Amino acid sequence: MTDTDTGIASLGVQLPPLAMDVEVLAALRGVDPAKLTVGLGCREMALCPEGYDVATLAAGAARRALARWGGSLDQIGLLAVGTETAKDMSRPLSAWLADALGLRGAVRSYEVKHACYGGTLALRQALEWRWSGAARGKAALVVAADVALYAPESPGEPTQGAGAVAMVVEAPRVAEVSRASFSYSEPAFDFWRPVGEAYPRVDGPLSLECYVKAAARCFEQLAAERGGREALARLHAACFHVPFPKMVKKAVAGVGEALGLSDAETAAFFEQKVEPTMRWSRRAGNAYGAALWIAVAQTLAGLEQGTPIAAFSYGSGFGAELMTLTAGPDAAAGAWVAEVEADLASRTLVDADRYLALRAAERGQGIQ
Ligand code: CAA
Repeated sequence: MTDTDTGIASLGVQLPPLAMDVEVLAALRGVDPAKLTVGLGCREMALCPEGYDVATLAAGAARRALARWGGSLDQIGLLAVGTETAKDMSRPLSAWLADALGLRGAVRSYEVKHACYGGTLALRQALEWRWSGAARGKAALVVAADVALYAPESPGEPTQGAGAVAMVVEAPRVAEVSRASFSYSEPAFDFWRPVGEAYPRVDGPLSLECYVKAAARCFEQLAAERGGREALARLHAACFHVPFPKMVKKAVAGVGEALGLSDAETAAFFEQKVEPTMRWSRRAGNAYGAALWIAVAQTLAGLEQGTPIAAFSYGSGFGAELMTLTAGPDAAAGAWVAEVEADLASRTLVDADRYLALRAAERGQGIQ
């Protein structure tokens, strides 16, 4: 099996049916809206109604990816779900997904956890399973799905969100993914959720420091192996994990410094190749493990075959990985765009009262 036999064959994105404008949250919490819109770069955060959870999101994305793929369930030999929105300490989220899809039999089915990096790890494992020959021609279904909720009134609250991206890994019709990737990890308590606690604990400034460092170390490796700063010039776009857009801007500044770019060169790289990838992210908010792949899905749509982009994944704790993708023949049509636009057009923007009721219902479901 060669690299060209394997890649992203099909993808599907699912956003939930509710969202909130961060300016409504600003008014509710008594903060200057410009802090959220300008200071953090946020616009809206996706929210799930009662009874709609991470499994609903994962199943929605998976159904969309599978319908476009055209293959049958018995051709799937691996199902991997990356999430940090665990429904259970033991039973994998993939079991809920398999149940919803009617997928059973000769399938390796499991969940991957590494904060916002889990979905990327699941994708890399699926690719490597195919490249190794162990797949024996079978396809993998990979889903990154999360619902990001912070404690009410905490600093992270404006950076909530939700979403799922599903990818069938088989022939590279949507994108080829580079076999080489560039990883960096370092143990840290920047963002974590102790067992039994409903909301994450976050050291916001440390998480920023870790994220910027990880991006710089990964892009340094890419540059060292692929012709220095020219490696950036060859990219059509660079997608990042998007906790909130300002954080991405800070990471790009760190990358520019590490690669010896002038301030003007870094600003141009951000404006031309990074900022345009975050259009859907500003509507979804931080979808944790799905956040990077939402940006990748938006960016791949409409690209001519062979166009290269980068994808930088970060998960607190912390681990990061940078890879490149090249658009496949189905990218230009971007068939998944209509579904995302329909999700965005049909969703309800909640007011402060509905938001507070949703948060109270969380507590009613056993969340402290
Ligand atoms: N107008 C314009 N800008 C304003 C403003 C105003 N009135 N008031 C403040 N600002 C600016 C500030 O200057 C600051 O900008 P700079 O950083 O560029 O200086 C920005 O708004 C934020 O201000 P603060 O730092 O004072 O905000 P804060 O203390 O409320 O916290 C935060 C911000 C730390 C990012 C907080 O939102 C947070 O903790 N978020 C969650 C942490 C997070 O997402 N970490 C990412 C980890 S990666 C991840 O996604 C986790 C994972 O792996 C699961």
